[in-house]
Amino acid sequence: MHNKRKLCDKLTSSFLRKWWVVIVISLILLLSGVLVACFFNAWVNFFIDHHITLKEGGQVFDMWRKPPVQPVIRVYVYNVTNADDFLNNGDKPILDELGPFVYVEEWEKVNLTFNDNGTVTFNQRKTYRFDPDQSEGDENDMVVVPNIPMLSATSQSKHAARFLRLAMASIMDILKIKPFVEVSVGQLLWGYEDPLLKLAKDVVPKEQKLPYEEFGLLYGKNGTSKDLVTVFTGAGDITKFGLVDKYNGMSHLPHWKTEKCNSIAGSDGSLFPPHITKNTTLHVFDKDLCRLLPLVFKDEVDTRGGVRGYRFTPPENVFAEIEKNPENECFCPSGPPCAPHGLFNVSLCQFDSPVMLSFPHFYLADPKLREAVEGISEPDPEKHSFWLDVQPTMGVSLRAQARVQINLAVSQVIDIKQVATFPDIVFPIMWFEDGISGLPEPVTNLLNLATTVPPVARSVLLYVLFIAGLLLLLVSVTCLVRKSGRQETLSLEGTAHYAANDEKKSKSNGQSNGHKYPGSNPGFIPDRP
Ligand SMILES: *[C@@H]1O[C@H](CO)[C@@H](O)[C@H](O)[C@H]1NC(C)=O
Ligand SMILES: *[C@@H]1O[C@H](CO)[C@@H](O)[C@H](O)[C@H]1NC(C)=O
Ligand SMILES: *[C@@H]1O[C@H](CO)[C@@H](O)[C@H](O)[C@H]1NC(C)=O
Ligand SMILES: *[C@@H]1O[C@H](CO)[C@@H](O)[C@H](O)[C@H]1NC(C)=O
Ligand SMILES: *[C@@H]1O[C@H](CO)[C@@H](O)[C@H](O)[C@H]1NC(C)=O
Ligand SMILES: *[C@@H]1O[C@H](CO)[C@@H](O)[C@H](O)[C@H]1NC(C)=O
Repeated sequence: MHNKRKLCDKLTSSFLRKWWVVIVISLILLLSGVLVACFFNAWVNFFIDHHITLKEGGQVFDMWRKPPVQPVIRVYVYNVTNADDFLNNGDKPILDELGPFVYVEEWEKVNLTFNDNGTVTFNQRKTYRFDPDQSEGDENDMVVVPNIPMLSATSQSKHAARFLRLAMASIMDILKIKPFVEVSVGQLLWGYEDPLLKLAKDVVPKEQKLPYEEFGLLYGKNGTSKDLVTVFTGAGDITKFGLVDKYNGMSHLPHWKTEKCNSIAGSDGSLFPPHITKNTTLHVFDKDLCRLLPLVFKDEVDTRGGVRGYRFTPPENVFAEIEKNPENECFCPSGPPCAPHGLFNVSLCQFDSPVMLSFPHFYLADPKLREAVEGISEPDPEKHSFWLDVQPTMGVSLRAQARVQINLAVSQVIDIKQVATFPDIVFPIMWFEDGISGLPEPVTNLLNLATTVPPVARSVLLYVLFIAGLLLLLVSVTCLVRKSGRQETLSLEGTAHYAANDEKKSKSNGQSNGHKYPGSNPGFIPDRP
């Protein structure tokens, strides 16, 4: 008791001379605490938004321009092992899934131009290098696959005049074109000379048809793309950060029925607008996919380096038939009939070739499609689903596997004798998974720092501010009360005629100008004149 009183005396007498300053300070501390509680997250978000904006010299910009990751594409090819029996005896095609054939990629954006309106325009460069160590098989392995240029031409001729089909048949006879080709895996992917394309190039008007003589599923993808892409840098509007504004000068696709379905406002999959919640729908745009791919929240995951992420996948009905997902109506401009359940018709983006995309092994598609062939195992979400892990506060992709299967929807055309026995079928050609397995350590460290420090800092700040504020307030108020109590007793003990006066004084909170009591601590009386 005595000690406490001494402490109070000390405090009030020395640096707490002006006791009201202490109360003000403690109130300021408490108020700061309230401000931190309310606005700290907003400040952090403001800071994040400011720092991720794509600008020359920025850290995120460098990561975006030349991602410090090693994307890898694994290709699986369906080798047809009974082509003759399929054509001659009507057997189910027997497929042998070969691969993976693994290519290590390097991504870079070149010819960057910043526009004044918060966008940047560039060409994407991707290079692919075959990695024999990770691969199961060699690029030179020979495979038998459907002759895509030929079957595209014959399927397209279905509704043409009959004499055209007959002419086509005799040309194919002369050029010895068959419905299946035997090519190496490298050729199938990167291109082989195709007699039909060569012919088409000479015959068909320039602007109308394929600009190539060669055919390959990834033909022309190794190197700098000629496509000019404009994306939002996030300056001015962070909600569009990383999204495509224009693709080759076009702000919409020309193919589909509604503006929504023609939208290209998606990310390339590496960066998304920040502050992602479990309710957010992410959008990825890829030219070959021919549409925006929506991705919805699935799970929370731990990724490399201990970074917590959200897993996003396409909704299960993304490629569903119209009866099951009416929103897909807009993707069927010439239907009905429209694409079967689980397939996406990209023929308008593929020079009218009847190419249909699906998930590998017909995951989420009509099981009949898989049962129409032999040799494709049941789809397994682990192996065949499309997913992407993203760090929600920053919008950075942590890991991803973009998995897509390419199929050819062949139509039977009786008039062309080479394909007269090729039935209507969705013929799987190959599937691939293109993705990254993780970010390098410096980046994950940075992400960890950026995501763990703010909440901790907020809590620490809150505790320090509130505890310091409360303590200070408590101490000063206690001392004050004690002081005034002592004052009164002292006064009472002293000269009685002061008592009445004194009561008034303490009620008026000691603000009245000083009348120094004998024996009282001068610090208690305000020094104000
Ligand atoms: C693909 O199938 C054909 C038979 O149609 C066979 O000759 C060839 O060896 C197979 N390729 C591989 C790499 O297994
Ligand atoms: C883009 O950059 C590449 C080299 O990085 C160059 O060969 C090409 O001419 C450039 N294209 C344009 C349109 O500037
Ligand atoms: C921004 O400027 C570029 C180049 O002038 C233009 O292509 C693009 O359409 C503009 N974007 C917007 C959203 O105005
Ligand atoms: C891609 O191009 C690079 C050179 O630009 C070359 O070294 C590499 O072998 C090519 N990859 C494939 C798969 O053709
Ligand atoms: C997310 O969606 C659910 C259901 O639609 C809703 O109850 C919830 O409030 C939403 N959360 C946010 C953060 O918008
Ligand atoms: C795919 O789309 C094209 C163009 O709209 C259309 O002509 C074709 O019939 C469609 N194919 C199927 C199988 O629906």
